[in-house]
This record gives sequence, structure tokens and C-alpha cells, in this order.
Amino acid sequence: MSYSEKVIDHYEHPRNVGSFQKSDGGVGTGLVGAPACGDVMKLQIKVSAEGIIEDAKFKTFGCGSAIASSSLVTEWVKGKTLDEAAKIKNTEIAQHLALPPVKIHCSVLAEDAIKAAIADYKKKNGLEEDAAQ
Ligand code: FES
Repeated sequence: MSYSEKVIDHYEHPRNVGSFQKSDGGVGTGLVGAPACGDVMKLQIKVSAEGIIEDAKFKTFGCGSAIASSSLVTEWVKGKTLDEAAKIKNTEIAQHLALPPVKIHCSVLAEDAIKAAIADYKKKNGLEEDAAQ
């Protein structure tokens, strides 16, 4: 199978690889795995006092599509509120990267990771999870 140019670009030049220090304030961490393939993705967000995602980083131990999906999501969430970032859908990621059907679960991993990071941030900061989300 062939990867789209966007996947290859993010794979070869991943944006925002790394992690934040636990001691950094306002950090939420999402760590998720794909049971189907065993790939693992860690995605972190840094949230301002106003509730805006100022920065995001990831470390993905997985396939090219998973790396590209997490790289893309870290770019997309910057400048968004938590609620806006929680609305990112794996279908948007898959569409943007032109992922083939067998690689859709890689974009699901990225959606799960950002949701987990937001949930972690909310839990740490005593914010209610919005049940309607
Ligand atoms: Fe499993 Fe891509 S093959 S995340």
C-alpha cells in the first residue's frame, strides 16, 4: 500500500515530538493503545489559565499513519479551547491524510489520545467532565 504525501511529510518531519515535564503546570496527558496492532500513542496538552491549549506534544510508538495522525492533531489543537479540541473527529484526520480503510484505526488512536489528554487535564484540575460531550 502507498502512503499519501501528507502522511509521508508528517512521518518524515513530525511536528511537536516530545513530552512536557510533569512539573509543568497545566499539562494533561493521554496514553492510549490500539489493541489491533499494539501501537501506542502518548499525547500531551499544555493549557493556559484561560483554558486555551497553548502547546501540544506527542510520542508515538507505531506505524507511519499513527505518527502522522498524532503530529497533525498536535498542530490542530493549538489555540483551541478544550471543548473545541474534544470535537476533533478521527474521520477529519483520516480525510486530511487520505488514509486508506485499513489505516482508519490509526486516526482513531489520535482522537482517543486527545480526548484522554483533555480528560486527564480536567480531572487534575477538578473540572467536571461534560456528560454531553
Ligand atoms: Fe495500528 Fe497504525 S497500524 S496504529
